[in-house]
Amino acid sequence: RMSGGSGPHDHRQHHSNHQADTVEVAALTGDLSDPADVKFELVAQRKKISLASGAVVDAWTYNGEIAPELRVKHGDMVEVKLINRDLDSGVTIHWHGYNVPNAMDGVPGMTQNIVKPGQSFTYKFRAAQEGTYWLHSHQQASEQVGKGLFGTLIVEPAQETEVYDEQLTVINHRWETDQGYKKAFGSHDDWQRKRVAPGKTVKLRIVNAHNHSEKYLLQGTDFRIASIDGMRIQDPQPLSDQTAFRLGSGGRYDVIFTMPDHPVFFKLGDSQRESSPGILFYTDSPPEKPVLRAETAEFDPSDYGKPVANDVTAASRFDREFLMILGNEMGFYNGNFHFLWTINGEVYPKVPTFVVKEGDRVKTTFVNKSLTEHPMHLHGHHMTVLKKNGEKVKTPWLTDTLNVMPGESYEVAFIADNPGMWMDHCHNLDHAATGMVLHLMYD
Ligand code: C2O
Ligand code: CU
Repeated sequence: RMSGGSGPHDHRQHHSNHQADTVEVAALTGDLSDPADVKFELVAQRKKISLASGAVVDAWTYNGEIAPELRVKHGDMVEVKLINRDLDSGVTIHWHGYNVPNAMDGVPGMTQNIVKPGQSFTYKFRAAQEGTYWLHSHQQASEQVGKGLFGTLIVEPAQETEVYDEQLTVINHRWETDQGYKKAFGSHDDWQRKRVAPGKTVKLRIVNAHNHSEKYLLQGTDFRIASIDGMRIQDPQPLSDQTAFRLGSGGRYDVIFTMPDHPVFFKLGDSQRESSPGILFYTDSPPEKPVLRAETAEFDPSDYGKPVANDVTAASRFDREFLMILGNEMGFYNGNFHFLWTINGEVYPKVPTFVVKEGDRVKTTFVNKSLTEHPMHLHGHHMTVLKKNGEKVKTPWLTDTLNVMPGESYEVAFIADNPGMWMDHCHNLDHAATGMVLHLMYD
């Protein structure tokens, strides 16, 4: 779905209410004693949703919508009350990529109890990072995220240094319907049209909520990738409009461009897949379908912009080094014979836990020896990518979800600065459901 992101804060309940309803926050690790600056309510509920293709899906939603947006300011104390109205199953909210205190991380059985029908749970955290994030249920996530239990979390800078005339959030998801998979943002001929005057600046926040990586094209103008996984790129260079970019499952890119005096189009898939949905930005009269040019390059974050200033570099001394060999084999899981997705030859919960101490510099090496890509997601921390296939990357970048393609290896590092028990798993949620999960624990 594509939604305008600059509208009013529909889900915002009230501001700076110091006599807030009692906060049923469980054990807290961060300092959450300050009153909330902003409050939201997300009601988990069933809803029949009509897609642009005409298919109707029996969705599970927060607030009866596909991807409600929570928009706050950097520095806000945020409180979100989750109410499970009528789902058959328990739910939670995980703040994907957002480094919240452990008790707020939304992992049932680990950081909180599941929120059953009729129950509620209040999340509270300080919005300490700006950028594009998302939220989703972490209970049987492959099923619940598939059904629609997700939304976006947009944290604006406290003081705007760059102002965009247009901001759009694009969340990419596929629905399983009786007619097969449907794109969340429409059927084959579903091109959303948007009028933008020449010279205006546009920011597209792209979230991949689908289980596989997706390729995108933005044609008609040069553009820049301003952020990866909510983290700003220093000095992002313009990319030609024949550069495709790929976003792994769970990942986010912020893309910016200045509207030229002719149409610009953003689409899912490559130029060969003309039927995929997209957005047409036009200046006067809406154009017909765009003529797509073949892509000639693919965006590579390992050589883009300037390296981020960071506490860890390839030359750092590490207190802990972990290896994660990503594999697959056939076997039994929960009594069924199917593909197992393994870490170091084991499936969860047999994969040994990684143990760190607060303050450690931690290096993890991912090696993908399996048949398919694995978007590796670490909760509660951002990872700095240092090496790819054994070579130092030119521009280390920060990520919370690193898409590791078959045959690839990466070295990433993070500072153990957020105590608790965290998940580190593949964000192809089907892979996570059949083994590709481990725990990171602070001792
Ligand atoms: Cu977006 Cu553990 O997940
Ligand atoms: Cu995977």
